[in-house]
Amino acid sequence: MTKFIKLITSLVLLPFLLLACGESKTIVQQTEDELALRQLLEVPDHMAIPDFPDYNPPTQEKITLGRHLFYDNKLSANQTQSCSSCHLQSLAFADGKKTPEGSTGTVLARNSQGLANAVYHSTLTWANNGLLQLEEQLVIPIRADNPIELGVTDAVVDEVLARFDNDERYVNLFNAAFPDSDSGVTMNKIIFAIASFCRSMISGNAPYDRFINGDKSALTEQQKKGFALFNGERFECFHCHSGINFSTSYRDFNSENTSIKFPFFNNGLYNVGGLGDYPAIDQGLSDISLKPGDRGKFRPQSLRNVALTAPYMHDGSIETLREVVEHYVAGGRNIESGPYAGDGRTNPNKSGLIRPFDASDAEIDAVVAFLESLTDYEFINNPKFSNPFEE
Ligand code: HEC
Ligand code: HEC
Repeated sequence: MTKFIKLITSLVLLPFLLLACGESKTIVQQTEDELALRQLLEVPDHMAIPDFPDYNPPTQEKITLGRHLFYDNKLSANQTQSCSSCHLQSLAFADGKKTPEGSTGTVLARNSQGLANAVYHSTLTWANNGLLQLEEQLVIPIRADNPIELGVTDAVVDEVLARFDNDERYVNLFNAAFPDSDSGVTMNKIIFAIASFCRSMISGNAPYDRFINGDKSALTEQQKKGFALFNGERFECFHCHSGINFSTSYRDFNSENTSIKFPFFNNGLYNVGGLGDYPAIDQGLSDISLKPGDRGKFRPQSLRNVALTAPYMHDGSIETLREVVEHYVAGGRNIESGPYAGDGRTNPNKSGLIRPFDASDAEIDAVVAFLESLTDYEFINNPKFSNPFEE
């Protein structure tokens, strides 16, 4: 229903994109509203407009406010951390750590995710089938008390909101972003603005994008070979890392609700005790679904900018891209000793697509080189995502 409303808001249909594919021509039509959104979020022509909830359409003023809040330590209870403590632009908004510490020093169980194109994932975070929109997910880093990230719990929320109400720069930013409201600073406004900022974090200008847009010299010969292996039936990568965002966990503005998939897979990283367990601190989807068969299932991560987001996997337990590819070639990970000993290759919940196969060193290098072609330097240097307090 929501999609229908979005699509009939304008009666004027503009012929938007003429894609010449050999003999055939595809004409994609967009409404004026969609065109305005595309311009606002600077979505490249070969990517779809991201989805957003009807209650929070993106505007430039919300994005600007969200950018300030994202970088402001005032948004943590003890004023020591902001979103940018764990999400750094230079690392495509990951943080380079295995697992980060929250503002009170608690070490989190999971690796900080890069935020480029996060909005195109059909569910958010590493393994939660109930977090469908940024507005729902952002409550966690801001408000949660176990584990504490920014730590804005009920006990301190009024004090934190007052910090912004008492700051003239923010009063103006909030008034511009929410012109029809006179309720001052509220947690919902904070979340809506930061969600809008994260929604604008679109990365679509890597060498790979230039290649698929027709510049055949944008990839090296080795990267082209890696691209073919990535999409072949021996390496199998494309089954789970498919489409423009390299993940079957995908949806955009045009996705029909009934067609959206919520995929999670067990990658054979662990098999503690031989019965399919992952480390008790994080069993993945089964911690939410409570189904034993969901143990070790995580979301196929987008591979955009993946060369910048090491270490890898939900717990940062693989250090380099080459080791990730070697992990797949081996069909899982065998941990011989220590508390997590067990042969992940025989994890009963492991996806059937993860199984050992033969690959030469040169082929592994080629796949790694292809993954490096997904790095978008324009994105990590774009001033619109940078710290506004350092301007
Ligand atoms: C202490 C470190 C830390 C802080 C502070 C933090 N995050 Fe995160 N972020 C993480 C981790 C770790 C994950 C993965 C969580 C999971 O899978 O449960 C994550 C996940 C996310 C995701 C989901 C990405 C995806 O692809 O699904 C978004 C969006 C996000 N964070 C945005 C933010 C914003 C905005 C803030 C500030 C309000 C913030 N984070 C504060 C560590 C942090
Ligand atoms: C069965 C589905 C599946 C297949 C096939 C698959 N992946 Fe993955 N991939 C995943 C899932 C799920 C994760 C996250 C797993 C976790 O954290 O436990 C992941 C994680 C990754 C990561 C780490 C991303 C990050 O930011 O930490 C990389 C890199 C990667 N895959 C590359 C590949 C390559 C290259 C191939 C082909 C050789 C491949 N994948 C095949 C599902 C798959």
